[in-house]
Amino acid sequence: MLADESTDARGGARRRLRRVPKPFAGWTARAICAIRSTIPVADEPHELPHVTLHFAQSLDGRIAFPRARARLSSPEGIVLAHRARAANDAVLVGSRTVHVDDPRLTVRACDGRQPRRIVLASGLDVPASARVFERGPGLLVIGARGRAAPDAVARLTAAGAQVRVVDATPDGLVSLPAALDAIRAWGVARLLVEGGARILTAFLRERLAASATVEIAPRWLGEPGLVALGAIGAGAKDASASTVALAETHVDRAGESVVVRGRVVY
Ligand SMILES: NC(=O)c1ccc[n+]([C@@H]2O[C@H](COP(=O)([O-])OP(=O)(O)OC[C@H]3O[C@@H](n4cnc5c(N)ncnc54)[C@H](OP(=O)(O)O)[C@@H]3O)[C@@H](O)[C@H]2O)c1
Repeated sequence: MLADESTDARGGARRRLRRVPKPFAGWTARAICAIRSTIPVADEPHELPHVTLHFAQSLDGRIAFPRARARLSSPEGIVLAHRARAANDAVLVGSRTVHVDDPRLTVRACDGRQPRRIVLASGLDVPASARVFERGPGLLVIGARGRAAPDAVARLTAAGAQVRVVDATPDGLVSLPAALDAIRAWGVARLLVEGGARILTAFLRERLAASATVEIAPRWLGEPGLVALGAIGAGAKDASASTVALAETHVDRAGESVVVRGRVVY
C-alpha cells in the first residue's frame, strides 16, 4: 500500500497529490509505456506473472503502525508508486491492508492506465464498502479452500468482484502459487505486490518475487511500528544463507526519500 491513501476524508489523497512537485506531475503516458516495456513479461500462458514488490519503509524497516498506516512516501515517492501501478497489469494487497488502509489501488498521481486490483483474503472477509470496489478495470478477491464460505462468494460477486477460491496452505491461508495461477488465468502477466507485511514476507519466503522497489523514508517509526518483513529464510545455521538480496540495483532520490530497486536474488 502506498502512503498516499487517506483513511480519513475522501478528498485527502487528492489534496496531497496537488502538492506533487512539477517535474514529477507531468510524466506522460509515453514515459509510463517506457517503464512498462522494461518489465519482463510472462509470454507463455502457463508462466506465472512477473512479480514486483513495491513498498515504502522507515529507516528502521517498518511500514506501518499496528492498526494504522504511517505516512512514509514522499510526494515524489507517491508518483513513482503510481507509475509502477500503471506499468503493471494488476496490483495486489492482503486483506489486512484493505481493512486498515482501505486503499483505492488506482493511478492518480500520473498519467497511465488503471491496473486491475487483487485482494488475498482466505475467508473472503472483504467489506463490500471497501474502496477497491470503486469503478475500475476489475477486482479479483482470492480465498482459500476450506475457509471461503459460499455466501461470501455470493456477497462479493454481487458487489462487483470476481472471486476465485484456490488451495490453502497448511495454516489455512491462500496458497501463493495457486493464487498466481489464478491471477495468470485472469490475464495478468505483470503483478505489483504492495503489501502489507505478511504478504511481502510470504512472497519473499516462497521465492515468488522477481524484482522489488523499496522507498526508504528518512524517519524512524520505532516500536510499535510494524516491521516490513517477518521470517523469510529457512533459519539456516549460517545466517547469511537465509538472506535475500537485490542485484543490478538502482538507487535514486524521490524527494526526501531514497529509492532502491533491483532484481531479487534468493
Ligand atoms: N508502507 C507501505 O508501503 C505499506 C504497503 C501496504 C500495507 N502497508 C501496511 O501494512 C499493514 C498491513 O500489513 P499486515 O501484515 O498486517 O497484513 P497484510 O499483509 O496486508 O494482509 C495479511 C493477510 O492477508 C491474508 N493472506 C491470504 N493469504 C496469505 C498468505 N499466503 N500469506 C500471508 N497473508 C495471506 C491473511 O488474512 P486472511 O485470513 O483474511 O486471509 C493475512 O492476515 C497495514 O497497516 C498497512 O498500512 C504498508
